[in-house]
Amino acid sequence: MQETRGRVTKDGIRIYEDADFAGMRAAGRVAAEILDMMCPLVVPGVSTAALDDFIREEIGRRGVVSATIGYKGYQHASCISVNHVVCHGIPGTKVLADGDILNIDVTVIVDGWFGDTSRMYVAGAAPRKAERLIEVTYESLMRGIQAVKPGNTFGDIGYAIQAYVEANRMSVVRDFCGHGLGRVFHAPPNVLHYGRPGKGAVLEEGMFFTIEPMVNLGRPETKTLSDDWTAVTRDKSLSAQFEHSIGVTATGCEIFTLSPADKFFHTA
Ligand code: MF3
Ligand code: CO
Ligand code: CO
Repeated sequence: MQETRGRVTKDGIRIYEDADFAGMRAAGRVAAEILDMMCPLVVPGVSTAALDDFIREEIGRRGVVSATIGYKGYQHASCISVNHVVCHGIPGTKVLADGDILNIDVTVIVDGWFGDTSRMYVAGAAPRKAERLIEVTYESLMRGIQAVKPGNTFGDIGYAIQAYVEANRMSVVRDFCGHGLGRVFHAPPNVLHYGRPGKGAVLEEGMFFTIEPMVNLGRPETKTLSDDWTAVTRDKSLSAQFEHSIGVTATGCEIFTLSPADKFFHTA
């Protein structure tokens, strides 16, 4: 859709208006509610296709639209990335086993606004090192979010994430990044999950974007499989990701995709 409202910064980043926050809030809430609903469904023995079917049906029941079905030929209502899959895992016949960890990423369009969010889930009980990976990845996202306020830079966000992850002897994926969004799925800027303080574009009130760090237990390199979507760690180490859609406010930011039920990954 052609964007007509607001203005665009010299870095090509759209500045939205106060009233636009309500649209993002509604879209983000739907995406987060659907992720909340997945918690009891993620159990050993379920296929990733069955989880995606539920998401597709729930999107239909709510009368909203999936942003991913038909996006660049993608055919599914979610990406489901299990164990060493970094992102863009395609739901299919894979059946979850006890101890598998997975990211479910859902993007919906509500009244033209895009809500994009992902979280980690565990089928059964994960090994301690997998739990630590999930905890460090979640905390890195929240530290990135804490760096969001007018006058700070995108480099400050990336630095906050990278410094925390590397202090825990894990690695930040460089091959994928967060993105601007709003009335479009992917817009400037590229939100890098690594960086240097003070570098990059300056944050302004009214910017809408995602932060979605992917963190590996081993090395950061990825490769994309022959299906042209599935990204995996080159060294086969476990990978985790969390994603929020946020808007910059006068004093910090608003998270559009917080869990209404205050869940963040599957516990029981
Ligand atoms: N939701 C993903 C993101 O965070 C994009 C998925 S595109 C798809 O940007 F086509 F793979 F679904
Ligand atoms: Co995203
Ligand atoms: Co996403």
